[in-house]
Amino acid sequence: MRSYYIAGNWKMHKTVAESVTLAQELVEQLKTCKHKVMIAPAFTALSAVAQAIRGSSIVLGAQNMGPEAQGAHTGEISPLMLKDLGVQAVILGHSERRHSYLETDELINRKVLLALEYGLQPILCVGETLAEREAGNLEAVVGSQVRDGLKGVALSSLGSVTIAYEPVWAIGTGKTATPEDADAVHAYIRQVLAGLYNQKAADSMIIQYGGSVKPDNVSQLMAKPNIDGALVGGASLKVDSFSPIALFV
Ligand code: PGA
Repeated sequence: MRSYYIAGNWKMHKTVAESVTLAQELVEQLKTCKHKVMIAPAFTALSAVAQAIRGSSIVLGAQNMGPEAQGAHTGEISPLMLKDLGVQAVILGHSERRHSYLETDELINRKVLLALEYGLQPILCVGETLAEREAGNLEAVVGSQVRDGLKGVALSSLGSVTIAYEPVWAIGTGKTATPEDADAVHAYIRQVLAGLYNQKAADSMIIQYGGSVKPDNVSQLMAKPNIDGALVGGASLKVDSFSPIALFV
């Protein structure tokens, strides 16, 4: 049985003090939350947020990670450094990384494998642009992002991986895919996973939806059979919008 997984991607927002305040508010508000909840502050706030959520069930996540464990890689953060701070999950291949920082499927795959090697739970983000959707390439694009992102991931490690389907045109735009459209893509991703692994593994995979998830659309999205959670950007920055999303049922 799959369970819901709600993640908040704070992106490049908040000072350390602001991050700690939000984390403390979430600990308070989400005491009764039945779902797995992860928050991913900026790297600079990870350590302080780790302290703030200690003893709660909130999982600490990072928004990205370098593709090497250590060495001469100026400006990068390694899985060892994340683990050292108590980070358990890491968002990889977010569309902002793919499109603004030109991360390729090959690079993202290296990060996924490295995260798994060091015991971090990767959230592999996939999603098509509006142009790709309109050209009829949605399945080709999303399918290859899933296949390439998971290359070399053993069936035994798959349980640690989450996939987030985030149509690029829905991120930060206020445009949400309809629950029906999103569910159809999630079903397609499950079909790709069944081909790569097997049906049981595909049926067990948690696939989050991301792209303008808000308190007023979360329930309709989560009601769909193939949608198992949300990766939330803008609405994760305030306790008043993230709590109702995490507490949707
Ligand atoms: P959004 O961002 O909720 O602000 O659309 C989602 C994401 O980028 O993960």
